[in-house]
Amino acid sequence: MTSIIQFADIHFGVEDKAAMAAVKDVVESLKPDVTLICGDITQNGKKDEFYAARDWIRTLSGPKVITPGNHDTPMFGIFQRLFDPFGRYNRIIAPLSEPHYTDKNVCIMPINTSRGVQAKTDWSLGVVDIEALEDKVKIMQATAPLTVKLFIAHHPFIYPPSSPLQKTTEGGAQALARLSELNIDGVLTGHVHAPFMLDRQPDETEILSIGAGTLSVRRRDRAASFNHIEIDAETIKVTEIFWDNGQFSTGEIFTKKIAELKSRRSII
Ligand SMILES: [Fe+2]
Repeated sequence: MTSIIQFADIHFGVEDKAAMAAVKDVVESLKPDVTLICGDITQNGKKDEFYAARDWIRTLSGPKVITPGNHDTPMFGIFQRLFDPFGRYNRIIAPLSEPHYTDKNVCIMPINTSRGVQAKTDWSLGVVDIEALEDKVKIMQATAPLTVKLFIAHHPFIYPPSSPLQKTTEGGAQALARLSELNIDGVLTGHVHAPFMLDRQPDETEILSIGAGTLSVRRRDRAASFNHIEIDAETIKVTEIFWDNGQFSTGEIFTKKIAELKSRRSII
């Protein structure tokens, strides 16, 4: 069995200090084989926020796979935002991340859906580069042809109906359909600050969409939370671990038979 911790939207600078003080012991009790961080590691992309994040990530044992979020570009430095939006992330956080994670049950690959600037007014929106995605799929297929394959990104490719935030990720629906065709099993994301688990999307692609909540004080009417994901040869199990009344508790549990997920797909 592979034990996976999925964090998102810790937003160092406005992290929930009480939850963060308690989270490490809970995570250690779950004996993770790998820890995922799905972006928005900082609040404003400031150096001191990145250093605090780095120091905390270093305390987590085992491999990490990390991808940046829209808040991980400098909020107040327009020149850095224009010319080197992920410079601080790349220097301070990226060295802590594996390029991808592979074991006998799962292969996990990050893709950056965030941008420093975009030709639209809302720079927080996600973009999926389909060509980059397909290149990464080739690496996964060559590395681990038979196991469960998951992407991690910051933005949901399609926002779930339960999301308190409803936006559109450029290329997201197309990417999800393409990943389903390519026999990828799931996309793990953050950004909406509310956990969700979906095994179907409106366009009937056969791919799981798993969102982690936030461990910051920037809540959207949901408790702070993260996900614990367990994968063996037969089942993917996702458990929401939420922060309430000064302690972490087990929330909703979602399970999916891997054979059922794969059998609904026509592979090309
Ligand atoms: Fe966020």
